[in-house]
Amino acid sequence: MPSTRSITHNIFIGKNVYSSLSDFLKKEKYSRVYILCDENTMRLCLPNLVLNMPDLASAEIMELESGEVSKSPEVAINIWRTLIESNADKQSLLINLGGGVVSDIGGFCASTYKRGIDFINLPTTLLAMADASVGGKNGININDVKNCVGTITQPRAIFINPYFLKTLDKRHYYNGLAEIYKLALISDKSFWKKLTGESLDEETLILKSVSIKNKIVKADPFENGQRKILNFGHTIGHAIESAMLKEGYDLLHGEAVLSGMIIESHISFQLKMINKKQLDEILKAFKETFTLKALNIDTTLLMPYLLNDKKSSGNKILFALVNGIGSCKINIEVKAPMIGKAIDYYTRQLK
Ligand SMILES: NC(=O)c1ccc[n+]([C@@H]2O[C@H](COP(=O)([O-])OP(=O)(O)OC[C@H]3O[C@@H](n4cnc5c(N)ncnc54)[C@H](O)[C@@H]3O)[C@@H](O)[C@H]2O)c1
Repeated sequence: MPSTRSITHNIFIGKNVYSSLSDFLKKEKYSRVYILCDENTMRLCLPNLVLNMPDLASAEIMELESGEVSKSPEVAINIWRTLIESNADKQSLLINLGGGVVSDIGGFCASTYKRGIDFINLPTTLLAMADASVGGKNGININDVKNCVGTITQPRAIFINPYFLKTLDKRHYYNGLAEIYKLALISDKSFWKKLTGESLDEETLILKSVSIKNKIVKADPFENGQRKILNFGHTIGHAIESAMLKEGYDLLHGEAVLSGMIIESHISFQLKMINKKQLDEILKAFKETFTLKALNIDTTLLMPYLLNDKKSSGNKILFALVNGIGSCKINIEVKAPMIGKAIDYYTRQLK
């Protein structure tokens, strides 16, 4: 079975992940096992897990409401409270069975409960398999500010079973695919060419994405430098996501990042980091595969979010920008007029 070694743990990918999971559980001998699900993964993924791993039938199940609404301090407190009330000790294990929401909040709660208990990720969405479950970033949102409280703590292992994607709807599938395109665009020209020119099977897509992300994270686990390239598309993307969610629009993370990647590619073009041909190639690839979302907001609303972005410093807005296809540069200061021009470029693509 394909597997890859991360900073401190193994990542297993394939239909036979359960034998690796079984070996892991036998070796670690946890005192108690908890499984964190959301309402959909409880219904669609947990039965398959328990069927293949009968030992987990006695695990304590915690169920969250599905969606971003669960990445909140209130839900985190409920998880900690459940752990306390059931006497979870330091030898307990939390299994995150779900998409990025479950692994983000589950990793956060596990890495802080009793100053840290073990957790493992069993991602169930394409976004979580290819991106969110890897890298150790865990966290919750406060009001409308995304991921503003969290930890960087690695899971003990990651077990990726692409079988779970069978029940994932198309919109969430494309949401994850957007992050896969990002990984190719910032760091691997040949993967980008394959993605945009061939049809790759899911296991290959996931394996390639995980190995790209892993390599970046291993070199800079705490995001002091080069890991920031993973934020390409996210400076604008997070601002769009936060502003639109605040206004009550239905928008997924990957959809916001897709808009962010196009807008930020135009900033790269204005800064001569990519030429017109490369900008056109990027736009064509995105338009052929995805449906671009309209920005149904007054774009001046994005500014406070951009200034609040974790990469910004003082009143400087700093970006990670593509520097040729397959390469990315960090800490680039961009002024408001250039951002405005790039947003106009994006809006023209929607017509
Ligand atoms: N930590 C990181 O490095 C990182 C990276 C990228 C994104 N994220 C975070 O990930 C989150 C988004 O993750 P997501 O897109 O996986 O969202 P999600 O966890 O909300 O899952 C999306 C939807 O799919 C459902 N679902 C999950 N698995 C399913 C399955 N197998 N079949 C049918 N339905 C299923 C969920 O119930 C939910 O309704 C965001 O909060 C984002 O900030 C974190």
